[in-house]
Amino acid sequence: MDAETVLTTTRSVRRKLDFDRDVPQDVLDGCLRIAQQAPAAGSMAAQFRWLLVRDAATKAAIAAYNRETAEASWAKYGHLVEARALASAQHFVRNLERVPVLAIPCMIGRPPADAFTQSAYFGSAYPAIWSFQLALRDRGLGSSICGYHLQDHEADVAALLGIPDDVMQISLLAVAYTTQRDFRPATRPALADITYFDAWERTGSLG
Ligand SMILES: Cc1cc2nc3c(=O)[nH]c(=O)nc-3n(C[C@H](O)[C@H](O)[C@H](O)COP(=O)(O)O)c2cc1C
Repeated sequence: MDAETVLTTTRSVRRKLDFDRDVPQDVLDGCLRIAQQAPAAGSMAAQFRWLLVRDAATKAAIAAYNRETAEASWAKYGHLVEARALASAQHFVRNLERVPVLAIPCMIGRPPADAFTQSAYFGSAYPAIWSFQLALRDRGLGSSICGYHLQDHEADVAALLGIPDDVMQISLLAVAYTTQRDFRPATRPALADITYFDAWERTGSLG
């Protein structure tokens, strides 16, 4: 798959995850090695960890924590979400334990308060997460981030997995083969509307 195709068609896959196909560890290893090449700010690179969960009972417990927060959120705000997107999110979260692998990227050390160090902290995690997602896509797998448990149950999931208090779970990714190979680029806002020149909200012509 060429770079532009991978970069523009790596979607959050929720409905097309193959719950029944095993994800071999050597395939995941290849994706994690690619993710290791992502940029990270100075010493933050040494603070990053992946925790991969395959155990059925552990996945079920993590999924239940995610569902609890997600269901409460949908009950309150579900009417504001487009019906198709809501149905897709519900299908995903209600079946989370069926996903072969849950990958939890973690950072040793809690996030700092100031913008400079916060930028370095989260900015040292998401390039690796995205590279991992791109590498999965290139190999016929898909993923979606699912972070509902971080709202109310980060500590519960930490206790379940033995994650120390000073380690933050940055996110959680559901990883599986996809039941289809072709995905399309998503609709995004017009580039001209989100690009400013020389001053805030000063739009201009794009080349
Ligand atoms: C930081 C971050 C957090 C996200 N959290 C969730 C989540 O909790 N549940 C979920 O279904 N998708 C989550 N997503 C996926 C977004 O909803 C998704 O990227 C967005 O809908 C755009 O769709 P696309 O990825 O297919 O382009 C998250 C994405 C990011 C980058």
